[in-house]
Amino acid sequence: MYVCNCNGLRERQVRAAIAAGATRPAEVFKANACRPRCAKCVCEMSEMIQASREALRYAAE
Ligand code: FES
Repeated sequence: MYVCNCNGLRERQVRAAIAAGATRPAEVFKANACRPRCAKCVCEMSEMIQASREALRYAAE
């Protein structure tokens, strides 16, 4: 499934960037050597980053 249609970024690529330390959508783009275009995907990326943080916080408790 694509998260970013403009750059052809799939969910697994976004998850890999987050796992590698991306904490903002801009870092997800950078990790995949691309830039935001229409930015429609930024909200979904932010939600994925937030969900990842919450999962880590929950796992640490
Ligand atoms: S869908 Fe990601 S920049 Fe357009």
